[in-house]
Amino acid sequence: MPKSSAARLYRGTPLELVRLARLLRAGELVAVPTETVYGLAANALDARACRKIFSAKGRPITDPLIVHFHALAQLDAIAETNGAARRLAKAFWPGPLTLVLPRRKSVPAIVSAGLPSVAVRMPAHPLFRRLLKLVGVPLAAPSANPFGYVSPTTAQHVQDGLGKKIAHILDGGPAKIGLESTILDVRDPARPRLLRPGAITRAELEAALGCRVSAPPRRAEEKNRGAQLAPGLLKRHYSPRTPVVLHDVLTAAAARAGLRDEAWVLAAKPAGRNMKNIFWLDARGDLRGTARQLFSTLRQLDDGRFKKIHVALAVGDGLAEAINDRLRRAAAR
Ligand code: TXA
Ligand code: MG
Repeated sequence: MPKSSAARLYRGTPLELVRLARLLRAGELVAVPTETVYGLAANALDARACRKIFSAKGRPITDPLIVHFHALAQLDAIAETNGAARRLAKAFWPGPLTLVLPRRKSVPAIVSAGLPSVAVRMPAHPLFRRLLKLVGVPLAAPSANPFGYVSPTTAQHVQDGLGKKIAHILDGGPAKIGLESTILDVRDPARPRLLRPGAITRAELEAALGCRVSAPPRRAEEKNRGAQLAPGLLKRHYSPRTPVVLHDVLTAAAARAGLRDEAWVLAAKPAGRNMKNIFWLDARGDLRGTARQLFSTLRQLDDGRFKKIHVALAVGDGLAEAINDRLRRAAAR
């Protein structure tokens, strides 16, 4: 339901958490902080409540949600686990890893867009964990942004994008990681498939599992499988309205010589003066800092000031895969 006023922001006092938990149990939507990005949460066991998520976001019902829970004891009622899932849970939960497993009947089909599987995650953000514990039921939550736009990493981002569509936002500060969770399909424990790279890297997953983890699916494969298998992998996603242009290498000199109505985003802070229209993601080019700042920087530069946003691709192992994945989707036309 569209409304004219802004959403109410909550700092998360004990009384507020009790109130938000009650609202969630009654089928209301609450935007919640996580360590990755902010989510738009509803009772995962209530199909009517989950349907509200899709309408608030303008999200097609073919794009499944992630189910968040507080304690491992809840998992068996949501998904069918296996040895690989238990290993990963032990190594990385609570944390920025989502596992795709066979879905239990207690989870309504709409949560998974009708798929026989379900995506599950135990988040690490302390405030969200306290809320999950109070609610007592698992919460379905995609990122709290209008469908297709850059994911929110602050409560204000949620307010900017969905404030007129939702009533409650729990403010847990800026997201520590800043990129959506790693998604791994472990339905076949012998053949784990990375569906979306994130802060938990392929190498870390392989070390925990003791086997190879296949790379994210190619575009052609995504097309063949239709929008349903891993729609977070839609080619164009996480996209600012301003066109994004990617560069393997972007130097300060090139940026200084560049057009003045275009923004130039470097990996690290350049030396010297004359910084007009030059931006950087982390002062020292550190990948964690880059990931944390990426979405908020894209949002800031997407206010109509610039005709194009030029960005340097991340260099290095691990997190660079996830950062560059999001940059490629932001740049896809
Ligand atoms: O970090 C995150 O993952 C955040 C926070 C809120 O937890 N959530 C998030 O959700 O970013 P989002 O907007 O990416 O939506 C969930 C995505 C879907 O687009 C899809 O790619 C994947 O999770 N997904 C959900 N269920 C799935 C399933 N059964 N099989 C394959 N992929 C699934
Ligand atoms: Mg999303």
